[in-house]
Amino acid sequence: MTEPLLEVKGLQAWYGESHVLHGVDLQVHRGETVTLLGRNGAGKTTTLKSIMGVLRKRQGEIRLSGKDLMNLPLHHIAYAGLGFVPEERGIFSGLSVHENLLLPPKVAEGGFTLDEIYHLFPNLAERRNSQGTKLSGGEQQMLAIARILRTGANILLLDEPTEGLAPVIVQRIGDVIRALKAKGMTILLVEQNFRFARKVADRFYVMEDGHMIDTFRADELEGRMDSLNETLGL
Ligand SMILES: Nc1ncnc2c1ncn2[C@@H]1O[C@H](COP(=O)(O)OP(=O)(O)OP(=O)(O)O)[C@@H](O)[C@H]1O
Ligand SMILES: [Mg+2]
Repeated sequence: MTEPLLEVKGLQAWYGESHVLHGVDLQVHRGETVTLLGRNGAGKTTTLKSIMGVLRKRQGEIRLSGKDLMNLPLHHIAYAGLGFVPEERGIFSGLSVHENLLLPPKVAEGGFTLDEIYHLFPNLAERRNSQGTKLSGGEQQMLAIARILRTGANILLLDEPTEGLAPVIVQRIGDVIRALKAKGMTILLVEQNFRFARKVADRFYVMEDGHMIDTFRADELEGRMDSLNETLGL
């Protein structure tokens, strides 16, 4: 197998004195959609925040195309091509859809143009002049993803993009993820919604108490269902 695009080895992380990640290993290959599963408090969000460097107290290895990210200053990590869409989405309520889209700086060539974004998200095109406060949860989630696509990031870290959204919107987000995959985007997805995750993921990791306890490919899922039911309480 080729070198992974993103490689995490022995990652440990702390909130103050509280030791939360205890040696997490994770690989994401170019063009893959990898889903991180685990119950509440397993350490999924902490893993994403540690990769992005917004959580600073950590140890271990984080590499992108073999290049060390662990010792890179925070503002350089986005410029390495990692785009983070946090659970809270971070839409600026006083700005319009269009202004929110324009806000994050471009970090690399090859990002989506505004035309491409509005084509992929026709609902955002319709609402381009609406204020952030006027958007539904689903529209905010789409805007949060769309905004990162414009920056040229080539690996997306999505934290529970379907949380709290109606089934029809969840389906739309699934369509968007499949469209991004078809364009060759690399995606690391954190999800509690297993039914959604199983439709988009090429590979899975399962976390428990700050450890990775399993990894398997989509075609191995059937054989894992009993243990997943137990770990995740599906
Ligand atoms: N800011 C924080 N300060 C202290 N402890 C935290 C903080 N954020 C999370 N934790 C703790 O770290 C552990 C992992 O939390 P994390 O948010 O990574 O879990 P998660 O897998 O994303 O869960 P969820 O599915 O609920 O989002 C939990 O025990 C949580 O209580
Ligand atoms: Mg979380």
